Amino acid sequence: MKVIICDSAEAMSKTAANIFADRIRSKPNLVLGLATGSTPLGMYAELVRLHREEDLDFSKVRTFNLDEYVGLPPDHEQSYRHFMNRHLFDHLNIDPANTHVPDGLARDLDGCCAAYEAAIQAAGGIDLQVLGIGTNGHIAFNEPGSPFDSRTRVVDLTESTIQDNSRFFKRIEDVPTRALSMGIGTIMEAREIVLLATKDNKAEAIARTLEGPVTEAVPASILQRHPNVTFVLDQAAASRLKRSQ
Ligand code: F6R
Repeated sequence: MKVIICDSAEAMSKTAANIFADRIRSKPNLVLGLATGSTPLGMYAELVRLHREEDLDFSKVRTFNLDEYVGLPPDHEQSYRHFMNRHLFDHLNIDPANTHVPDGLARDLDGCCAAYEAAIQAAGGIDLQVLGIGTNGHIAFNEPGSPFDSRTRVVDLTESTIQDNSRFFKRIEDVPTRALSMGIGTIMEAREIVLLATKDNKAEAIARTLEGPVTEAVPASILQRHPNVTFVLDQAAASRLKRSQ
């Protein structure tokens, strides 16, 4: 487990983007696992800059997103497919057919989840997965109590996650209550994981993840057992770590 504490959120974004750029240069058909949310936005902007100014090539890269809300169409402003197109895919030379986000409108949601797992396997598994973290320690939409061996499935969002995400919706009643999410077992199979966190509202979750017991009550704590994980944090997110003092 490696922990990098950066001076600012901007430095965190650049550090993380450089890890991604390095891996893409070494393996042009890399399989990326991607996250939405506010934390990776700066990293995505830096990847777009590296593509435009330094020829970082995404033509063979394949991507699988962690999650999608159930019930939102791909062109809905708050759908994760829309988020990814707007903040990343539309600005790269990536083949849209190589980008995968679970289909929140699928009629057969369970079948869609099984097909998503099969597609990840068919791509050879995820080489590099980026994660954010919820204030309750969730990764993807694996809320506290999610089994460590869980796979891609339909999940109910907790009140705290609905609250956290309501900032993106006009009214809290508009926040979907269910999502399709890669499972913790799926995430742990990624060959390399980079978890990003900024701001002091993540400090408690980061301290519990890195320094607390490995427990399903803090889903991200399982990362202590991953053989190749890097936490890239700003000072505020790292502020409650005892070992960083
Ligand atoms: C998003 C995701 C979530 C977020 C987490 C943090 O695809 O899987 O687990 O990473 O909720 O969100 P932000 O970055 O908005 O604080």
